Amino acid sequence: MSTAQQADATGSRPAHITDAVYFDFDMFKDPALLEDAHARVMDLRRNAPPIFWTPHNGGHWMLASHKAVYEASRDPETFSNGMMSREEMMKVMAAMPAGMPRIPQPVPIVLDPPEHGAFRAPLQATFSPKAMIALNSKIRALAIELIEAMKLKGTADFMKDVAEPMPVQVFLEMFGLPLERRDEYRRLVEAQMASLDRSQGDAAMRFRQVADVMHDTLVDRRDNPRDDIISLLWKTTIHGNPTTMEDMENFAVLLFIAGLDTVMNGMGHGVLHLARHPELQQQLRANPKLIPEAAEELLRRYTFTVPPRRVAKDTVFHGVEMKAGDRVMLFLPGADLDADEFPEPESFNLERENNVHIAFGVGPHRCLGSHLARIELQILYEELLGRLPEFRLAPGKTVNYHGGHVIGPNELWLTWEA
Ligand code: HEM
Repeated sequence: MSTAQQADATGSRPAHITDAVYFDFDMFKDPALLEDAHARVMDLRRNAPPIFWTPHNGGHWMLASHKAVYEASRDPETFSNGMMSREEMMKVMAAMPAGMPRIPQPVPIVLDPPEHGAFRAPLQATFSPKAMIALNSKIRALAIELIEAMKLKGTADFMKDVAEPMPVQVFLEMFGLPLERRDEYRRLVEAQMASLDRSQGDAAMRFRQVADVMHDTLVDRRDNPRDDIISLLWKTTIHGNPTTMEDMENFAVLLFIAGLDTVMNGMGHGVLHLARHPELQQQLRANPKLIPEAAEELLRRYTFTVPPRRVAKDTVFHGVEMKAGDRVMLFLPGADLDADEFPEPESFNLERENNVHIAFGVGPHRCLGSHLARIELQILYEELLGRLPEFRLAPGKTVNYHGGHVIGPNELWLTWEA
């Protein structure tokens, strides 16, 4: 029996789930995924149906082919981003302690068009490629500082020393938040990473904490605007109305969950590949102009986010019956390793004819931070390759992964001649 055909470990299944689409896969705890994430993704592409329903984590669909993910992402009328029904929201609120302050919502990712557009527009303006390029030299200075500090050690956990702190500091810089609060932010990121089952109650508490640590700065920039994103967002309007404190808290939690975890794990996947391929390090050191292309192919080869959806109305999708209310995961890692879209998907190939991956999603919710993420990743690879001699995985250390909505290595021990 292949790893892709394990026995069902959980309970019942709804009547509309046929044997043909039933498959046992726990996106949070699947042992093979936690051992070697993208080897397991390939295994699923080969051995699981392209669209399957798994009983784990409350039961949900997994869309794993490129075609299915692409189409569902562009059809918000059928596949909604509104994750909770009104009744579920009431239940979560009822479980909160009495007197609990308002829970911010990660807007606009939880909204569908047309409402979604009104809340995406202010962010779109602030996250323009031009605005992100202006951050370039600050991001490079941060990368250099972190890499030089790590370099002295000769052996280090790249995730702890660089991949985790770098996006946090970029976030503080971009938002004009005080650098002294760096540790508070890192602790929040750690809490987010640790809550693997991501229960609704935990997520709500974390959102409130993020809004709380930003509160004073939000108030200050409203009253004393500066040249930063918080001040800019205060100046935008939504439906013609000035931005409110609630809107600002919503944006803050969205950018926190969307920007910190993702970049960090993207760095982990990319640097792990480089550590395993000294010949690629050599090629990129000799020709750094290839780094942007390599960064894209690394994003495709190791696509790592799994955005959720909810079926908005009964539908038959690619011949599969789905019911309103069913939960769906867009398995982007599977889509970017689909042999029908990318021939020999497992090979890292800088010469690919089609390298248009969907690591940043597709459709109305396509990542707003992709320009920033690309800048962070490219600068990281440039400075790491430029400053460290050949690096490889530290002997005796194994790599294991966390699963869930953002898949990535937990630790990444590297070694080099110090
Ligand atoms: C390599 C790093 C990143 C990856 C792989 C990534 C991936 C994604 C994906 C797949 C989506 C679509 C989610 C969906 O369809 O529901 C998304 C949305 C989003 N991302 Fe990113 N992201 C990254 C970095 C960032 C950064 C650095 C920021 C900003 C600080 C950011 C901000 C956003 C926002 C605001 C959305 C929601 C857009 C909307 O709902 O209209 N992301 N991201």
